[in-house]
Parts: sequence; C-alpha cells; structure tokens
Amino acid sequence: MKVKVLIADKFPERYIQELKDYELEVIYLPKLGENDLPQAAKEVDILVVRSTNVTSEAIENSIRLNLIIRAGAGVNNINISAANKKGIYVANCPGMNSIAVAELAIGLMISLDRRIPDNVIDFRNGKWNKGEYSKAEGLYGKTLGIIGVGNIGKEVAKRAVALGMNVYGKDISRIEGVAIKDFSEMDQLLPLCDIVTLHLPATPQTKGLFNKKLFGFMKPNSFLINTARADLIDQEALLEAIKEKNIRVAMDVIKNEPEEKSANIKSPLQSIPNIYITHHIGASTEQAQNAVASETIRIIKDFVSSGIIAHWVNRSKISDAHYQLVVKHYDKPGVLASIMSIIRDRQINIEEIENIIFDGGVVACCTMKLKSEVTTEMIKLMNENPDVLSVSHIAI
Ligand code: 3PG
Repeated sequence: MKVKVLIADKFPERYIQELKDYELEVIYLPKLGENDLPQAAKEVDILVVRSTNVTSEAIENSIRLNLIIRAGAGVNNINISAANKKGIYVANCPGMNSIAVAELAIGLMISLDRRIPDNVIDFRNGKWNKGEYSKAEGLYGKTLGIIGVGNIGKEVAKRAVALGMNVYGKDISRIEGVAIKDFSEMDQLLPLCDIVTLHLPATPQTKGLFNKKLFGFMKPNSFLINTARADLIDQEALLEAIKEKNIRVAMDVIKNEPEEKSANIKSPLQSIPNIYITHHIGASTEQAQNAVASETIRIIKDFVSSGIIAHWVNRSKISDAHYQLVVKHYDKPGVLASIMSIIRDRQINIEEIENIIFDGGVVACCTMKLKSEVTTEMIKLMNENPDVLSVSHIAI
C-alpha cells in the first residue's frame, strides 16, 4: 500500500510533484478547514498543514496518521498533547521562513516611522499631506530590543545593525536541557528601547507576556512590532498603553484570525490610528514558501526511507531514564533478547533503546536508557552470553 500524504494548505505544485515521483499518494486539498480535517485526514499516514488547525478531534479520528508536519515554524495550531497520546510524530520547518519574517519586521518598523500606510491611504483618498508626513524621526541610531533571539530574531538583528541601529536581544535560556524563557531584566531592557520586536513562539510561558507590567517599562512614543503570535500580547494592556503612552504598534498577527485566506473581518483594532495590521503574511514570500516546501519534502522522504524524523518537536525532552547501558554484541538472533530478559526479570523499565551495526555487519552496539540501576550481578549474567562482547553502565 502506498504511503498517503494529505496536504491541507496551499503548497507549491512542483514540490507536490516531487512527492508523487517518490511513489507517494498525494491528496492536495488546500482549501480544507479545521472542521473538514477529521474526515479528510482519517485514512492518511502523513498530514502537512500550514495554518489549518489540527484539533484533537482530527487526531483522535485518524486511523493511520503517523506524522504531522507544520510547513512553517510555529506549531501552536496542532494539538500536540492529542498527538502525544496516540504516538503521532509532529515536526516543523524551523528557520526556513526566518528571512521573510525578518524582512517584514524591518518593513513594519520603517512603516511606523514614515507612516507609509497612512501616506498611501490619504493619497488614494485624494489627499496630499507632505506637511504631516514629514515628521518622521528616522531609524538610524535608534535602540531596538529583540525579544526572542532564535532564527528569526537573529535575521532581524543583522538587518537592524545594517540600518545603524543599537541592537539588544533577550535570549532564551536553557536549564537542565529544557528550553525556558528568561524574561528577567525586561525592566532594564524595555526602558532603553525605541522599538521592541517580538520573535517568540506561543507557549503557556509566553501567553500574555506583554501585559500591563511590561508595557509599563516601555518608553512613551516607542514602537512595538509583533510578527510572531497574537497571544504574546495582552490586548487590553496594549490598548491602554496606546492611550497612555502613545505606543505605536505594527502586527502581522491578530486574535481570532480568519481561517480562510480571504474573509470579511471586524476587529476593535481597525479604528485605532496607532495600529497597523498586516494579514499574517510574514512567511508568505515565494522564497520562504519554496524553502519551507523543500524542507517538508526532505522530512517526508527521510521519514519514509529511514523512519528518522527531522525537527521532531514532540519527542520528550525530559526523560525518566537515569542510567545508560551499552552492550556491544555479535549481530545474531537472540542476543538482545537474552539481555532484555535479564532487565525484564528485575522489572526495570527501558525508556529508550537504539541498536547500531558496525560496518561489515558482524558487531552491533545497543544503547539503552533505563529508569533504574543495573546491578553488578546483572552485568555478570549479561557477560555470560558468549555473543556479548562488552557491557558498560553509567548514571546519566
Ligand atoms: C510560521 O509559523 O511559520 C508562520 O506563522 C507562517 O504561517 P503561515 O504558513 O500560515 O503563513
């Protein structure tokens, strides 16, 4: 049976052909919405989405689904906890659209400074207003705070430095192997910034990050750019900051963004002159879409040919394994079974296991991550098997 791939959002034609040439059955339904997905994805092996929401219903309803790929960076439109419960891999394409998003972020900074959208609207309405629009400050020498210095934040930094800006970044720290967001010192960073630009994912830690307290640290008349996710900003606090501090804002993302590519829209943000909104187009350049599509194809081909998942986002980062056992053995039937039975008899749980063969196919090396310690007596028993070459055991 051919592997079935459903692509549920717009995807460049030539990459669809590449998948077909790879002997995969490709179903291309770019207009699918979240409500259609439970039925459409029921019998596919691989699902590719851009903005379409993959709900728990779609995941629970699926019979064969094995891999969901977000053809983009953020994975917040996929119900990952539902995927975890069914052992469905979720992968994304990080970094592929970073330049496009960075270009838009810089464009929005210039737009806010020169009020380009207002210039255009006035001209379209028959108004010439050089007097008013000559009041821009210029970006050269201004201080930019980049909140989130990942792939996109770094691209913004390069471009901002080229414009002669002073650039500060607030990075993501790692503690014990787990990525956490370190938002300390915002009280020192934000008061320095003429412009603040957000480049963070939507997570429980970043939800509503820009609240009354953080807006309180921002300079009056400063700019805030959000090309990341609407959830990062507490909308009420934003509206208050606009009123009280004349903060000016440009955002590519809004709450309750329409699922369809074109729709009528009503938003409380429409009537506020200090706010510019673009239509979630950050990643939507030809260049970025091709890079994302090509990465998606690579992930699919790797997975189909070897079972390896590039950019696997729902692999556990925290493990209960505290010990590692490495067994080098002759690559023969039953050797690993004998090792496993010793482990099973002591009721030790194997968390992860990998068996790799040396060139020539004579010897293999099996690495196991275990919950509990292997005793000297167990190691002795393992070594009694003449097909076992060595056993080593360490705490990790
Ligand atoms: C991303 O997460 O990569 C961007 O938000 C792009 O989203 P889009 O593919 O829906 O344009």
